[in-house]
Amino acid sequence: MAAVKKILITGGTGLLGKGMEETAPAGWRILGVHQRDYAVEDAKAKHIVLDIREKRAVDRLFEKHRFDAVVHAAGIASVDFVEKNYAESLESNLVGTLNVCSAARRAGVHLIYVSTNAVFDGTHPPYKETSLTKPVNKYGQIKVECERLVTETLPDSAIMRPILMYGWNHPVTRPNPATWIHDKLMRGETVELVDDVTENPLYNISCGEALWAMTRKKVRGVFHVAGKDAMNRWKFGLALAKTFGFDARLIKRVDSSRFPGIAKRPANTTLSTARMERELGVAPLSVADGLRAMKAAMRIRA
Ligand SMILES: NC(=O)c1ccc[n+]([C@@H]2O[C@H](COP(=O)([O-])OP(=O)(O)OC[C@H]3O[C@@H](n4cnc5c(N)ncnc54)[C@H](OP(=O)(O)O)[C@@H]3O)[C@@H](O)[C@H]2O)c1
Repeated sequence: MAAVKKILITGGTGLLGKGMEETAPAGWRILGVHQRDYAVEDAKAKHIVLDIREKRAVDRLFEKHRFDAVVHAAGIASVDFVEKNYAESLESNLVGTLNVCSAARRAGVHLIYVSTNAVFDGTHPPYKETSLTKPVNKYGQIKVECERLVTETLPDSAIMRPILMYGWNHPVTRPNPATWIHDKLMRGETVELVDDVTENPLYNISCGEALWAMTRKKVRGVFHVAGKDAMNRWKFGLALAKTFGFDARLIKRVDSSRFPGIAKRPANTTLSTARMERELGVAPLSVADGLRAMKAAMRIRA
């Protein structure tokens, strides 16, 4: 019988980590790390509290465990928080990434760094892995720096750029567009959604499948991971209302000028999924299929 392999997922309790847990193939044991002091119930993974900003703690983790793979997804993923709290975000996202990369390098383990579509300025979609990066906000700028750090320190590593992700999250973590819209519509509240920010939204379960394919194949270089349909946030909200049977009249169409206080968003960062399909064998999922799968899945309650 083949030995069980061990994978480290930093940010394991996040939406992406949950997608990986739910699609975990046989023969892999997951160790997830997160930063705040809480516990999640999870049959498929073990979660521990560890702050990746603390180099000694990260080094000790790699001394204690021999990992067969690392997916580094931990960090501050809120674009608006990063814009307003740049120094704190540099600590988690850049220093944390340096700590994880240094330890992975010494251990000689394959690493996948999770970046973002926000490395692009949104003016020339669809974006390929080779397209020029030109972020329009601080979150995207830090991700570009992290990509460079990963590529320089771990030449055999891979970078995955996911796009706007949706799905059922662990209730302790931040909501995503689907859960946020879902909960507001369920309470009968109106939802204002912009029609000038376009992506090809990604179901977190599809993201998990793509990450496992990348892990198994030990791929190198950049991979874009996204859904099949390019659509703006307003249309995404309408699709969700339709799937879940909510009143679509509660959804109000606005544009970004309605929210002057938030960080600038790139207009259209639709990602090309050609490399994902060709080299990972993963087909992009339509929004209708993703939302139907989400509706059929059980939501974890707090
Ligand atoms: N969600 C999207 O739409 C999207 C799109 C493109 C790219 N991404 C990228 O994908 C990755 C995962 O995103 P996500 O949506 O899964 O994030 P998320 O739901 O916000 O979860 C973030 C995870 O990172 C952990 N974390 C944050 N700072 C940490 C630290 N200093 N030490 C250890 N753990 C820390 C959090 O732990 P606590 O809960 O304990 O704080 C949590 O487990 C991120 O790198 C994000 O930039 C996400």
